[in-house]
Amino acid sequence: MTPTRIILDCDPGHDDAIALLLALASPEVELLGVTTVSGNHTIARTTANALRLLEFLDRTDVPVAAGAAGPLVRPRVIAEYVHGVTGMDGPDLPPPVGAPIERHAVQYLADTIRGYDGKVTLVPTGPLTNIALLLAMYPDARPERIVLMGGAIGEGNRTPAAEFNIWADPEAARRVFESGIETTMIGLDVTHQALVTHAHAERLRVAGRVGKVVGELLDFYLRFHELRWPELGGSPMHDPVAVLEVIRPDLLDVRPARIDIDCGWEQGRGRTNVDYRDREDGLPPNNRVAVGIDAEAFAELLIERISTLG
Ligand code: RIB
Ligand code: CA
Repeated sequence: MTPTRIILDCDPGHDDAIALLLALASPEVELLGVTTVSGNHTIARTTANALRLLEFLDRTDVPVAAGAAGPLVRPRVIAEYVHGVTGMDGPDLPPPVGAPIERHAVQYLADTIRGYDGKVTLVPTGPLTNIALLLAMYPDARPERIVLMGGAIGEGNRTPAAEFNIWADPEAARRVFESGIETTMIGLDVTHQALVTHAHAERLRVAGRVGKVVGELLDFYLRFHELRWPELGGSPMHDPVAVLEVIRPDLLDVRPARIDIDCGWEQGRGRTNVDYRDREDGLPPNNRVAVGIDAEAFAELLIERISTLG
């Protein structure tokens, strides 16, 4: 089976880093490149984290293109409180030796999508600023699909109403969800089921050089969730679940849905209003949303795939 060509648009970030590892370890996908965006941390930090991770993996063949330094409209807000001062605290990975490519992420996205006649799946796992800019600047460069980590049918995490990626740049999210491109939302409803625990971290720690680094990422990441979300019993693998949708869609229950973004400035900011129940007076579906996940199978697959990275 021909691997699906993907570009990971990310803000590493602990879970973005694990999503990158999962993509590199999965024969179902060909990772064409990585684009970075401000989100979990500044664009300088998220770009440096992507570079140093790829250098650690000896995969500098995968290009990194730096993107937007902040949202389209709103002031930039980063999530250092979750990911630490480096944006990827925990492992002692050396600073990057290399640099991102010259082209801006949006130009790289447009060139690559055009180069493959649109047969590319975008996997955004941070705020959607780069994707919105792509749609605005290069409307001809439309990817085949978008599978994004963001939003929530239910409770948010940055606010009760909204998940961080959407909350950070609601205008960008609205442009993406209204683009008409087949877009699948991987929200907190499934990622809060896709948990890794200390027991998983211990298995990974002895699974090789890469597993040891993932164990160190999780040691740091688990501390945040034990404080803020103790009822979960682990750390949600938000971004790896977006990669899972591409490599093993059978492990997810995805439904057609109408998804609208609240671009207000009050409590509803960044809310994803999701209707997948075909409600009376509801609008027809414009996207897809994940409503269920085989969480145990996901966790085992994650450990198995990361263990193959040596
Ligand atoms: O709300 C979770 C999302 O925000 C994840 O993508 C995490 O990496 C942060 O970007
Ligand atoms: Ca992310």
